[in-house]
Amino acid sequence: MASLSLTQIRGSNSVTEFTRLRLKTQRGRSKIGFLKVVGSQGQNQGEPDLSVTVNGLHMPNPFVIGSGPPGTNYTVMKRAFDEGWGAVIAKTDALEINFSCPHGMPERKMGAAVGQDCALLEEVCGWINAKATVPVWAKMTPNITDITQPARVSLKSGCEGVAAINTIMSVMGINLKTLRPEPCVEGYSTPGGYSSKAVHPIALGKVMSIAKMMKSEFDLEQYSLSGIGGVETGSDAAEFILVGANTVQVCTGVMMHGYGLVKKLCDELKDFMKMHNFSSIEDFRGASLEYFTTHMDLVRRQQEAIQQRKAIKKGLQSDKDWTGDGFVKETESMVSN
Ligand SMILES: Cc1cc2nc3c(=O)[nH]c(=O)nc-3n(C[C@H](O)[C@H](O)[C@H](O)COP(=O)(O)O)c2cc1C
Repeated sequence: MASLSLTQIRGSNSVTEFTRLRLKTQRGRSKIGFLKVVGSQGQNQGEPDLSVTVNGLHMPNPFVIGSGPPGTNYTVMKRAFDEGWGAVIAKTDALEINFSCPHGMPERKMGAAVGQDCALLEEVCGWINAKATVPVWAKMTPNITDITQPARVSLKSGCEGVAAINTIMSVMGINLKTLRPEPCVEGYSTPGGYSSKAVHPIALGKVMSIAKMMKSEFDLEQYSLSGIGGVETGSDAAEFILVGANTVQVCTGVMMHGYGLVKKLCDELKDFMKMHNFSSIEDFRGASLEYFTTHMDLVRRQQEAIQQRKAIKKGLQSDKDWTGDGFVKETESMVSN
């Protein structure tokens, strides 16, 4: 069975009390949510506005504490809200459904085993959404060939949002003295979930694929996407938003840098927005999606560019022109921005 988590939404000031109120989602389903009363965030005049509204829930910024140790009990959740996080995915019982846990769960046909099997996923999402009174997000595993398939099934089965990615199955290393794999428990190991900076490019790729699928098949006003994986800077977050994410979750980053990280994330995201004169998150959400195309199309574009350069006799014109001496310059001439 998939494990459930609850997203608690933070409001404007740092008092951590949650008000239970009835939400009417855009899709007309009446749902109960644990939502802190929202006011203004005390935004400075002329400053970019970081607030987002996802599935009817208003958040002062797009930053959500991802499921895991940083949102594991009331004390740490209160600390997170006091520091300014927009929301916390907590290990209680609602909202974000973890169809992606790689640790022990798949052995028991739970967690990632559900997220990797579209028929099972459809059935479980159906049960949950038949009863749910809050918006439901399905959390995706990256340990699958095509992540758009379970994302599509989750949304078609009633979920309001998709979150991606959970950790990537990996073996950290082999101890060359003992020949034992790491991390080692009583001499033995098992592939486990890899997170943090190294997974960010992989997560960006998965979120981009889901965003493209959602853009072409679903009404983006009604469904949301949460980007997760290796976020430690405002630039990392901006990248997720540029490929279509509404919110950005951070787990390992909080474990490594503490709850105060959210201030840096907000400041750096605002700096990026100021650089481009973006006043809101929606001003740039998904803006990079149109620049993703197919490999075949890249080859076609490159051939066209080579033909143009040939016409003006500039840069490397074919493979036989590689000389070895000017290798770096010749390589550069293959890529045009
Ligand atoms: C120690 C640890 C515990 C985690 N526990 C959970 C969990 O209980 N449920 C879940 O959905 N994801 C869990 N995750 C996955 C994270 O929420 C997140 O999807 C993943 O680590 C990638 O994001 P990050 O690079 O910001 O950590 C855990 C990750 C770590 C590192």
